[in-house]
Amino acid sequence: MTKKTILVTGGNKGIGQEITKQLASRGHTVYFSARDAEKGQETLQLLSQYGDVRLIEIDLRKPNSHHAAFAELQAQTGKLDGLINNAAICTDYEGPATVTLDALRMHFETNYFGVVSLTQAMLPLLRAGDHKAIVNVSTALGSLGLQGEESWPYSAVNLLAYNSSKTALNMFTVSLAKELRSEGFRINAVNPGHIKTGLGGDQAPGSVEEGAAISVKCVLAGPESHTGLFLSSGGVVPW
Ligand SMILES: NC(=O)c1ccc[n+]([C@@H]2O[C@H](COP(=O)([O-])OP(=O)(O)OC[C@H]3O[C@@H](n4cnc5c(N)ncnc54)[C@H](OP(=O)(O)O)[C@@H]3O)[C@@H](O)[C@H]2O)c1
Repeated sequence: MTKKTILVTGGNKGIGQEITKQLASRGHTVYFSARDAEKGQETLQLLSQYGDVRLIEIDLRKPNSHHAAFAELQAQTGKLDGLINNAAICTDYEGPATVTLDALRMHFETNYFGVVSLTQAMLPLLRAGDHKAIVNVSTALGSLGLQGEESWPYSAVNLLAYNSSKTALNMFTVSLAKELRSEGFRINAVNPGHIKTGLGGDQAPGSVEEGAAISVKCVLAGPESHTGLFLSSGGVVPW
């Protein structure tokens, strides 16, 4: 497989750290983002044993950091073959009757506006790359199809701020996939499953290895592969 240069956001911990590790172990150059430079350096030390891993500072809530990251990557590599929009927050557990607008705004700032802004900033680098893959790490909780089924096991997880920010991310995925299809881009959303991390909680059934696998598979998939889909290890997820 040709060596690729891939940017993974939120690589300091959780699924993003594992995605970085798996891609580097397969011989790819992986830029992982951290918003805290000190923590990022610690992670860099840890992950460097797996291959060519590099740190880049990005805070999804700070558009200036997206432009600075673009300039740094432009100078260092001049291209990206893949982008995995993994970083996100889930810090509010209120339902729609009680959620505050501040909580909604904070989740949209990070999980939606931040991802749209960063992706737009990286497009010139992705256009310059040979592979042209974008993976948006979403969640089944953002699926309107599944949330509409009362019998769905996670139907009671009715957190409006997080869930709706990921529904918006799903629309960004479909919409961008349509716009960039003719340029050869493959742009998909993935559902990692319920994974044991800070965000997923201690009781989650899945490991980070399992959670990372679908993003790794999707970003490396060849030029004839799917675009505009919502995928999990079990197949296609309804939007
Ligand atoms: N775990 C699950 O069960 C589960 C299920 C479905 C979907 N997901 C999705 O999987 C992805 C990874 O989640 P995870 O479970 O690995 O969560 P996690 O362990 O909490 O890691 C989240 C990552 O996002 C970064 N991040 C948060 N806010 C940021 C910001 N403003 N700018 C830049 N980076 C930011 C964090 O950086 P810091 O280290 O600086 O905090 C961290 O590296 C997310 O998109 C999540 O929605 C997870």
